[in-house]
Amino acid sequence: MHSAEHDGGQGPVLVIGATGKTGRHVVTHLRRLGADVRAVARGTTPVRFDWFDESTWPAAVSGARAAYLVDAQNEHAADRLRAFVAFAAGHGLTRLVLLSARGWADSGEPGMLATEEALRGSGDAWTILRPTWFMQGFTEDDLLRAPVRAGTVRLPAGDGAEPFVDARDVAEVAATVLTQGGHEGVVHALSGPRALPLAEAVDTIARATGRPVRYHAVTADEYVADLTGRGVPEGDARFVARLFTWIRDGEDAHLSSGVQDVLGRAPRDFTDFVAEAAATGVWDA
Ligand SMILES: NC(=O)c1ccc[n+]([C@@H]2O[C@H](COP(=O)([O-])OP(=O)(O)OC[C@H]3O[C@@H](n4cnc5c(N)ncnc54)[C@H](OP(=O)(O)O)[C@@H]3O)[C@@H](O)[C@H]2O)c1
Repeated sequence: MHSAEHDGGQGPVLVIGATGKTGRHVVTHLRRLGADVRAVARGTTPVRFDWFDESTWPAAVSGARAAYLVDAQNEHAADRLRAFVAFAAGHGLTRLVLLSARGWADSGEPGMLATEEALRGSGDAWTILRPTWFMQGFTEDDLLRAPVRAGTVRLPAGDGAEPFVDARDVAEVAATVLTQGGHEGVVHALSGPRALPLAEAVDTIARATGRPVRYHAVTADEYVADLTGRGVPEGDARFVARLFTWIRDGEDAHLSSGVQDVLGRAPRDFTDFVAEAAATGVWDA
C-alpha cells in the first residue's frame, strides 16, 4: 500500500536537496503519493535551507514528520548532519531518510561512512539508501556530460562495469520509505538492472544520438591531469579518479536488489534512460 496516510503521520515531509538529481523527483513522487511536501534548498522560497546556516533550520523542520536528507557533500557533511539530527529530534522530527552511496560502504575506507554514522545516532527511525552511480551523471553532471558532448570520454575505469541506477528510481524508493512504515533501521542498496562496462555505456549513447562518442581507458594519473587541466583541485581529482579505479577493479559491478525490494518492480534500464535523454538533445554539441 503506497499511501501517505499509511503511517498516520501529520505535517509535511521535508525534502532537503530538493533541486538536485534525486530530490526534485522525491518531491514529485511524494506529491503523487498524496503527501504534503516542504521542498528546500539554499535558494527556495518561502522556506530555504542551508546546512551551513542554522538560522534556516527552524522553519524547515517546523511541524515536519519525516525528512529526506541529501548531505552537504563536503568534509563538513557528517558534522553538519550530526548537528541537524540533534536539532530535528528536539523538534519532534526523527523519521530521517539519508541518501548515502553504495561505494562508500563497500570501500571499507575509514571515514567514508561518517554521514551514515551521524544518522544512526538519531535513534531507530532512520533509513539509509545506498545507490550506485546515477545514470543522470551522464546528463546532469559535467564530469561525464561534458566529455560525452565533446565526443571523447577518457576515464580510468578500464573494462570495469558499473550497474548505473536511474536517480528517479532512487527517488521513488525514497518517497516510498518516507511514507510507508517498515523501513526503519534498514539500509537499502540500490543498483540498476545490469552492470555496464563504461565502453558499452558510451556506445549506447553514441548509437542513440547518432554522434561519434568514444570511450578511452586512461590511467588514474592521466585522468587527474585531465581534471586539473580543467581547473579541478588536485585532491578532488584524485578522489574522483579513485571512484573510477574502483569500477576498473570490479569492486562496484555487483547488483543490489533495493529497487525491486521496495517498489516491487525492476529498476529502469540504461538503454531506456539513454533513449529518453537523447530525445531531449542534452548531448547535442
Ligand atoms: N551522482 C551519483 O552518481 C551518486 C551515486 C550515489 C550516491 N550519490 C550521492 O548523492 C548525493 C547527491 O544527491 P543528488 O545527486 O540528488 O544531489 P545533487 O544533484 O548533487 O544536488 C545537491 C542538492 O543539495 C543542495 N545543496 C547543495 N549545497 C547545499 C547546502 N549547503 N545546504 C543545503 N542544500 C544544499 C542543492 O541545492 P542548491 O545548490 O540549490 O542549494 C541540491 O538541491 C551525494 O551525497 C552523493 O554521495 C550520488
